[in-house]
Amino acid sequence: MVIQKICCIGAGYVGGPTCSVMALKCPDIEITVVDLSKDRIAQWNSNEKLPIFEPGLMEIVQQCRGRNLFFSTDIVSAIRKADLIFISVNTPTKTFGMGKGRAADLKYVEGAARMIAENAEGNKIVVEKSTVPVRAAESIMNILKANNKPNSSYQILSNPEFLAEGTAVQDLLHADRVLIGGEETAEGQEAVRQLSWVYEHWIPSSKVVTMNTWSSELSKLAANAFLAQRISSINSLSAVCEATGADVSEVARAVGLDTRIGPKFLQASVGFGGSCFQKDILNLVYICECLNLPHVAAYWQQVIDMNEYQKSRFAEKVVSSLFNTVTDKRIAVLGFAFKKNTGDTRESPAIYVSTHLLAEGAHLHIYDPKVEPHQIVDDLNSSTMDPDIVNRNVVIHSDAYSATKNTHALIVCTEWDEFVTLDYEKIYADMMKPAYIFDGRKILDHDFLQNLGFHVQTIGKKMHRDVARAWGCQNHQM
Ligand code: NAD
Ligand code: UDX
Repeated sequence: MVIQKICCIGAGYVGGPTCSVMALKCPDIEITVVDLSKDRIAQWNSNEKLPIFEPGLMEIVQQCRGRNLFFSTDIVSAIRKADLIFISVNTPTKTFGMGKGRAADLKYVEGAARMIAENAEGNKIVVEKSTVPVRAAESIMNILKANNKPNSSYQILSNPEFLAEGTAVQDLLHADRVLIGGEETAEGQEAVRQLSWVYEHWIPSSKVVTMNTWSSELSKLAANAFLAQRISSINSLSAVCEATGADVSEVARAVGLDTRIGPKFLQASVGFGGSCFQKDILNLVYICECLNLPHVAAYWQQVIDMNEYQKSRFAEKVVSSLFNTVTDKRIAVLGFAFKKNTGDTRESPAIYVSTHLLAEGAHLHIYDPKVEPHQIVDDLNSSTMDPDIVNRNVVIHSDAYSATKNTHALIVCTEWDEFVTLDYEKIYADMMKPAYIFDGRKILDHDFLQNLGFHVQTIGKKMHRDVARAWGCQNHQM
């Protein structure tokens, strides 16, 4: 069997970019990405705006779409003709029932498996690309076997995805590694070889790592847990820095110069967000609890708890710095995405900070270069559970200058490059005085801003500036 046709179920942040890059690098393979959402598929087929923002993605989609890359809602025929099927559907945290708030909700994976079982004929390789709990492949196999047609057979592989949003195209083109887990039977190993062959169109074979299915599934959760743990570790030290006068950037640099530790993922921040870290660690915690490993569960839970602490510490610092009240104060929130170069807001720290300030009676003026206004409103409606507050006290702006005008404070929640080069002299002139900046991403030039007259607060660094000096500066400016 040589893979000629691939179907990917789920046209989201993973399915879309992964299959686009695969189509670019495998012109001999026809790839169809399918989704239940007609709107999403229509956007993937549009030349104006893809359903997700990823630098470099539109160019690749335009190059391959209609050639060997197709986006469709016809799930049945895509499944029927495919030799290999990726399951790339969402696996959010359960919001109800057993494991609520921790376990992964596998209903979409099960839905995809049932669609395959009902429609597939012949030999199919089914690949779990979604992030799933350990041994999820077993459940998929049970569904497929229970509905087995006489002329069909399956191999299940685990092939977790490691791309990060905002850098997805580069991550896919130059993956650190591609992980493939499969059964140790001859048929299982043959399926592993087939999928390896697809990746080896552009990934060196030394980076295609094969292992048993359960190790592959667990490795994905482990990688995200390790990455998030580094952020929580540096964020925990940022609190120590603020209390002592040490500077967390200097500490991170010193620690990261140890080649055993390395410099990446040591950027202290308002807290990590995104659709993966929290969900996958909660999933790991739940698995540990189910396996009666409470010490291991508590260990990883602390990574989440520290992240919650960091977000609340930052939001409380905004309130306490603004004379302990933000009621009826106008506050600009710059950045709503969970990181730069994406329009994704899932678990964005900006949601937490905004919700906290709205509860304190603040009026928010929000600007993000890529997040759709309706998304900001939806996120705040679901987190405040009070559409009236959002209607009354939130204004969405289309640029940073109008968002900051006449505000008492400005908060940087996302590290967009354009926030670094804004004209802060103009912003200062247009803000209420004393004017405050809270840099939750440590991207701004704090000395420069202080010299302009701003009161600056950031993460992991005690800012030395008293009110008298602030007023002095401001008067000097005027
Ligand atoms: P997403 O929500 O962006 O996309 C999932 C898509 O699957 C949706 O468009 C949904 O409509 C579709 N879908 C659900 N059930 C379906 C079905 N039965 N048939 C057809 N379509 C169906 O999710 P995502 O961010 O792409 O994540 C997908 C998986 O990849 C998750 O398990 C996630 O943990 C994992 N992952 C995500 C990232 C990331 O950066 N977002 C990175 C690595 C791994
Ligand atoms: C993550 C993993 O990096 C990726 O491998 C996996 O496939 C999906 O989950 P993603 O969530 O898209 O990717 O972005 P990532 O770059 O990991 O950032 C996650 C969050 O951590 C963001 O809110 C980011 O701002 C924050 N972060 C990251 C920090 O606060 N400090 C850092 O040093 C790095």
